[in-house]
Amino acid sequence: MAEKKKLLEIKNLKQYFNQGKANEVKAIDNITFDIYKGEVMGLVGESGCGKSTTGRTIIRLYNATGGEVLYDGVNVHGKKSKKELKQFNRKMQMIFQDPYASLNPRLKIADVIAEGIDIHGLAKTKKDRMERVYHLLETVGLNREHANRYPHEFSGGQRQRIGIARALAVEPEFIIADEPISALDVSIQAQVVNLLKQLQKEKGLTYLFIAHDLSMVKYISDRIGVMYFGKMVELAPADELYRNPLHPYTQSLLSAIPVPDPISERTRKRKSYDPASHHYQENEPVEFWEVTPGHFVLCSEKEFKQYQTQIR
Ligand SMILES: Nc1ncnc2c1ncn2[C@@H]1O[C@H](COP(=O)(O)OP(=O)(O)OP(=O)(O)O)[C@@H](O)[C@H]1O
Ligand SMILES: [Mg+2]
Repeated sequence: MAEKKKLLEIKNLKQYFNQGKANEVKAIDNITFDIYKGEVMGLVGESGCGKSTTGRTIIRLYNATGGEVLYDGVNVHGKKSKKELKQFNRKMQMIFQDPYASLNPRLKIADVIAEGIDIHGLAKTKKDRMERVYHLLETVGLNREHANRYPHEFSGGQRQRIGIARALAVEPEFIIADEPISALDVSIQAQVVNLLKQLQKEKGLTYLFIAHDLSMVKYISDRIGVMYFGKMVELAPADELYRNPLHPYTQSLLSAIPVPDPISERTRKRKSYDPASHHYQENEPVEFWEVTPGHFVLCSEKEFKQYQTQIR
């Protein structure tokens, strides 16, 4: 992984809502990680831990409270000309959890998909525009007859495919998929994940794939980051995270995954995480330590030394 090119560098990123007020929320509290070109970076953690805010801040839907995001070495939040902003908007796309809410119900599918094509002037003629739409529909497993229909005429899985086609229409490099399968039937989830995975391979795309739980994320991700209350508590290559979960919060998330074997499933115990279990001294520094190459854990120096002996 070390020789891979960094597409994004997220450095000490902070996003506070209602700053200075009684209801201040540190939705992102000083997180640092890289996303390599061509990888799928998974981001997991329970509801409200700041996953969507991380995605939205990276893509500039929010201004950051602090820290920076570099895309190909360029500060995303820095001052930019209209042209540069437009270029950024084309390179980075987002796929949302609720495919219905994110599709304009009054537009035909052709126009939903072609929105980015129009904004960025990617089609030279009307025919070219429609050919692109047809091709995109086929790319996501739908067909050209669907172009003239409206969003309500589709199932949840099909709508998510439309959302994917719309994101792909501008030929992006980086896609943030924010819980793209959570709203779908379990039977459809794997199909949509497979489609995303196949597209990523074919087109050399880079993903930030956000999810609640670790089961589907393991399957699609090269590396996984675990968030807890605005902080990144652990980050490792996917297999390594499953083999050696070090942070007690990661262990609790893993213990929540059902196992296919009925006997082990019956005896499976859900671990819960208690932040007080760390017994940190007052002012004891807690940092993102690299325990083995590429495996980071938010911990004290004492924990770091203990984790080093725990690695299998
Ligand atoms: N626009 C906003 N204004 C104020 N607070 C916000 C805003 N957006 C998010 N928050 C708060 O920031 C925290 C993180 O929210 P976020 O939506 O990023 O979590 P999440 O990990 O995506 O959760 P979920 O899994 O439920 O989607 C939450 O406490 C949330 O209430
Ligand atoms: Mg969210």
